[in-house]
Amino acid sequence: KKLSIIGMPMDLGQLRRGVDMGPSAIRYAGINERLHELFDEIDDLGDIEIGRPEVSVDSETGLRNLELIAEKTKILADKVDDVIASQSFPLVLGGDHSIAIGTLAGVAKHYHNLGVIWYDAHGDLNTPETSPSGNVHGMSLAVSLGLGHPALTTVGGDLPKIKSENIVIIGARSLDEGERKLIKDLGIKVYTMHEVDRLGMTTIMEETINYLKGRTDGVHLSLDLDGLDPNDAPGVGTPVIGGISYRESHLAMEMLAEANMITSAEFVEVNPILDEKNKTATAAVALIGSLFGEKLL
Ligand code: ARG
Ligand code: MN
Ligand code: MN
Ligand code: MN
Repeated sequence: KKLSIIGMPMDLGQLRRGVDMGPSAIRYAGINERLHELFDEIDDLGDIEIGRPEVSVDSETGLRNLELIAEKTKILADKVDDVIASQSFPLVLGGDHSIAIGTLAGVAKHYHNLGVIWYDAHGDLNTPETSPSGNVHGMSLAVSLGLGHPALTTVGGDLPKIKSENIVIIGARSLDEGERKLIKDLGIKVYTMHEVDRLGMTTIMEETINYLKGRTDGVHLSLDLDGLDPNDAPGVGTPVIGGISYRESHLAMEMLAEANMITSAEFVEVNPILDEKNKTATAAVALIGSLFGEKLL
């Protein structure tokens, strides 16, 4: 079993600086040490070069850093594609959630029916028309469905990367009006915090695993640290109170490990500038350990 770590220090999908330091913070929290016993080989490919580009706003749509995000996510897509082609598991460290445009484009080259678990306080299902902010990190799931600006939907090929029936969103508690409409129109499966409270994480993960098992040929986990409660993960740019607990999140990762169904993963939105003593990156590393089968006994 081989793991390849790709750092994607891109903060262009939103306004809070600092999330570009996410990959460093997660490495500093000890990801290699944590995982080395769980894999035969770990290959840290380092960070994709983002540089210090100037922030620009697309005059037509108001989207921030549109061309740059398209350019950089394309590079990520190619790298992820290569990693999978070399029989290795791609683990991408963000960066804001706009990086998922690249990750999913790369992964989708290898799966016809890719499942996606979107673990997040948000839906990231906005389009340029519905976005309240112009921030691309709130659009990446829609982009992967083929909805949104063509500069983004064509990253890594112009077909939709995923199908709406193969998505499960977990932890949602902040959805914009256009996102709610899209979820209803497309019938996307969503476990909001109401279901987390009501059903408990065990049932949610059992249902999610059963739902995706029959219909997908691979499953990508896209975990936005703001899916967790801000008490457990304060270092994020768009915190929303009332989130999934640290324990529930561990349980979710452990159940995914047992189901042995995740074929790629990304952990995004860790912003060490907003964090408390690297708590959020440390939580990310602990969850990554559980996702890959770490056990106490
Ligand atoms: N829905 C809001 C927007 O479109 C917030 C999105 C937050 N997304 C994230 N990946 N943290 O701007
Ligand atoms: Mn390929
Ligand atoms: Mn997100
Ligand atoms: Mn979010």
